[in-house]
Amino acid sequence: MTRLTRVGAREKVTGAARYGADHTPEGVAYAMPVVATVGKGRITRLDTEAAAAVPGVLLILSHLDNLGIIPAGYIMADGYAFQSLQPLLDDRVAYRGQPIALVVADTLVAATQAAGLVRAEYETEPFAVELGADGAETVLQEEAIPLPFLADIVVGDAEAAFEGSQVRVDGTYESGPQHQVPMELIGSVVEWQEDTVVVHEGTQSVGALRGGLARQLGIDPDRVQVIAPYVGGAFGQKNALQPHLAPLAVAARRAGRPVKLVLPRAHTFHAASFRPVARHRVRLGADASGRLLAVIHEVDQQASRHDLLPATYTEITSRLYAVPNFRGRQRHVKTDAQTPGYMRAPFEHSAAFAMESAVDELCQAIGRDPVEFRLANDAEVDPVTGKPFSSRHLAECLRRGAELFGWAARTPEPPRDVDGTMIGWGVATGAYPSLTVPTLARLRADAGGRIVAEVGGHEIGQGITTVLTCAIADDLGIDPDAVTVVVGDTRAVPHHLTAGAWGTNSTLRAVHAALRELRAGLGAAAAGRVDVAAAVTASGRDEVVVEAVTQGPGQPPEMIDRMRAGLVALAGPEYPDYVSFSFVAHFAEVRIEPVTRRIRVPRVVSVVDCGRVASPVTAEAQVRGAVVWGIGAALRERSEVDPRYGGFLNTDMAEYVIPVNADIGRIDVAFVNEPDFVLNPMGVKNLGEVALVGVAAAIANAVHHATGRRVRRLPIMVEHVL
Ligand code: MOS
Repeated sequence: MTRLTRVGAREKVTGAARYGADHTPEGVAYAMPVVATVGKGRITRLDTEAAAAVPGVLLILSHLDNLGIIPAGYIMADGYAFQSLQPLLDDRVAYRGQPIALVVADTLVAATQAAGLVRAEYETEPFAVELGADGAETVLQEEAIPLPFLADIVVGDAEAAFEGSQVRVDGTYESGPQHQVPMELIGSVVEWQEDTVVVHEGTQSVGALRGGLARQLGIDPDRVQVIAPYVGGAFGQKNALQPHLAPLAVAARRAGRPVKLVLPRAHTFHAASFRPVARHRVRLGADASGRLLAVIHEVDQQASRHDLLPATYTEITSRLYAVPNFRGRQRHVKTDAQTPGYMRAPFEHSAAFAMESAVDELCQAIGRDPVEFRLANDAEVDPVTGKPFSSRHLAECLRRGAELFGWAARTPEPPRDVDGTMIGWGVATGAYPSLTVPTLARLRADAGGRIVAEVGGHEIGQGITTVLTCAIADDLGIDPDAVTVVVGDTRAVPHHLTAGAWGTNSTLRAVHAALRELRAGLGAAAAGRVDVAAAVTASGRDEVVVEAVTQGPGQPPEMIDRMRAGLVALAGPEYPDYVSFSFVAHFAEVRIEPVTRRIRVPRVVSVVDCGRVASPVTAEAQVRGAVVWGIGAALRERSEVDPRYGGFLNTDMAEYVIPVNADIGRIDVAFVNEPDFVLNPMGVKNLGEVALVGVAAAIANAVHHATGRRVRRLPIMVEHVL
């Protein structure tokens, strides 16, 4: 296997990579939003006079103008936007921090100054920003979103089995809210080139921006170009159309100039999605020998008033163990916030924290080693559908992880260092569905022996360009330097949304099919090295171009049309003949200072079953990054709300605390690396999301081992272990 360094690494570290807002076209103007300062209500007066008088101000857009924007619809309801609510179209304020005006000026300084001078008066209404608040409304997912895969999961009779169990655990766990805080701020440069609007914006879905903006402006999608070769972190926050884009396009047309917007960090806490609060009640029943008999997993997830984010917490908790009785129920609690959305392992991180903490409590109650308990209760077939797994190597993850970590030396009593430092070891597992989306890959081979691969997909830092470069070079037996991969550009091919860790398996499936076409087109054998230059020359053409479109097993062909339109079109984890998940086991050590109770994580071992590892360098980086995320989720991150004011209080990265280098110790990563040829011919499952699932639980379990304190709320803070 070709072990490449990361494609684009040099460009990134030298600053040569041009991210969306790095574009500064001739004559560009700058935009700055004005946001609502009340928790909910109506704008009764908007005073823009002082703002308009700032030298250099060109436009102030608000609901007082007729912007002519058609809402693009919610991404999870056949639309394109992260929420159904499109600001600036009426006087309603749905939540504090919602944009109410957009100032455009010659300079960023003028736009910022003028935005600060816009004055609004409001008629306020009561609001709720917490799950238990007055006015927060609870709805059952099964009734609110009647889709089969969102219904309650019921296997056997969990209530009766729980009641009849000799050992029972009943715990309530809470995670979030969290924000993604990617390094690259949300930003766009929008320019009209005659009748075509050209957008440079870091995004996971150039297709959604294209389809969505076309719908909003009432123009043909062919008149929208979206270009995003690099994305400086997204993590779900950039997976849909953002509300700034259509107003920017209107502003650019009215001003007759390109317009650039970079949202200040403070705005990003309200202008885009976040990981909602989730509260879990988990009940586990087992017999005295440690056989898991019943799991009841009930979740309440925060929603906005206007949209429900489909929740799939129980999809993985019902699959981690061979449990004969399972009941999963998910509810939504409507609050006055923007619509929450996807953040790396959106449901699974939180679900695994709850489930794997509860399992640790159960092991404690019955005196079983947590690794041994998990091995004894591992599933061979899917407990929910009875179908086989496409592959499942969770037991191998646990065994390898235990060995690498030195788990055998663990004692029930936690060791103490000479200075009294409390030391604890914890383990937890995770799973993530292997989803697949329709993907188009076009390969161009030229007489110089070069291959240009235009593939629907996005480089969001996960390493897709590296993976595809490896795959093409390996297949044809050519130098990786002869391969150029183009992603994130609507001028090339239609694109799927890159999310849910499905990008690698979906693009590899398409590229694999395109490579078969290319071999045929070049008159080459079905396998073995290809002399691309000679074959193209022999064909008498300048280049040989082939195309392939693939989709998930059992996926209806109309899903390809949805993908072409920029709509969500995913298949899995249940396929016609099997279910497919990736798996992981994490082992964590914590050290807690005896006086300050400061919690450190000096080492983590993570072993992943993601099928064949498509690119070792980027895969290892993915897992290390996910472990850092898990440490953040376990010990640092929380978006704070204040019931008196609404909105989120965090405004920057001093107040939204993420781990820094000093917080990170040793992270050892290993892969089972068994190809899954059931799922696809490249043997690849998925990785980016599963790697985070269970990290926080492993740390919480280690904290319990060290201190005897069971902390059921994230993040774990010093005061919880005093
Ligand atoms: Mo990502 S959390 O799959 O958009």
